[in-house]
Amino acid sequence: MNRSVITGKRMSKVYHLPAEDIYAVNNIDLDIHEGDYVAIMGPSGSGKTTLLDILGCMDSLSSGELKVLGFDVSGKKEDELVKIRRGHIGFVFQEFLLIPTLTALENVEIPLHFARKNVKRAECIDLLGKVGLKHRINHLPKQLSGGEKQRVAIARALMASPKILIADEPTGNLDTKNSQEIFNVFQKLNQEGLTIIVATHDEQLGKQARRILHLKDGKICS
Ligand SMILES: Nc1ncnc2c1ncn2[C@@H]1O[C@H](COP(=O)(O)OP(=O)(O)O)[C@@H](O)[C@H]1O
Ligand SMILES: [Mg+2]
Repeated sequence: MNRSVITGKRMSKVYHLPAEDIYAVNNIDLDIHEGDYVAIMGPSGSGKTTLLDILGCMDSLSSGELKVLGFDVSGKKEDELVKIRRGHIGFVFQEFLLIPTLTALENVEIPLHFARKNVKRAECIDLLGKVGLKHRINHLPKQLSGGEKQRVAIARALMASPKILIADEPTGNLDTKNSQEIFNVFQKLNQEGLTIIVATHDEQLGKQARRILHLKDGKICS
């Protein structure tokens, strides 16, 4: 059995609103292993984004325990969470979040600027090659299809050599053909050993994963 990369016990996230408490994540136990490919499915509002944000160290738990890549992250402060997620976790979002005035290549280089590291142009070009975009490196986002934009975003997420890739509805803005491109890239990355956790409404993307977790009202129901 591969080693655990994420172990969560009795994880809860509660939002205290004036009228009510919302348990966005409600007492979830979860174990994810190296090389896993997990799809989180469930209706809007079921807690998918909240759970991904917690697993990706973007948000903290209200209660429970969480270990990510051996680090005990429960109760850690934001600056410690930043270190873990910058060093080890890649994120992909529904809206791609590319900078419109920068080329595909420059968008992939962005994390290096934030991390104050030297830009390794050859590595960035290799990553764009890996997602099938070597012929598009100098294109601006507006000159790319939706699937190509999302593949640039995936290359950008891979820039930090993450151990875990977290994707929140990555095909939510894409048609079937463009979605298929993303499925193919994820499949290839997972076959190379990357651990992938994806929230999706897309049945086809769900089926491709090795494991599906169905969420409802913040709980895993199957
Ligand atoms: N920052 C927040 N403040 C208050 N309630 C929130 C906040 N973020 C999410 N929620 C609530 O938590 C629940 C789960 O939301 P979310 O994780 O975004 O679900 P999903 O991604 O499955 O659509 C929803 O009821 C949502 O309204
Ligand atoms: Mg969501």
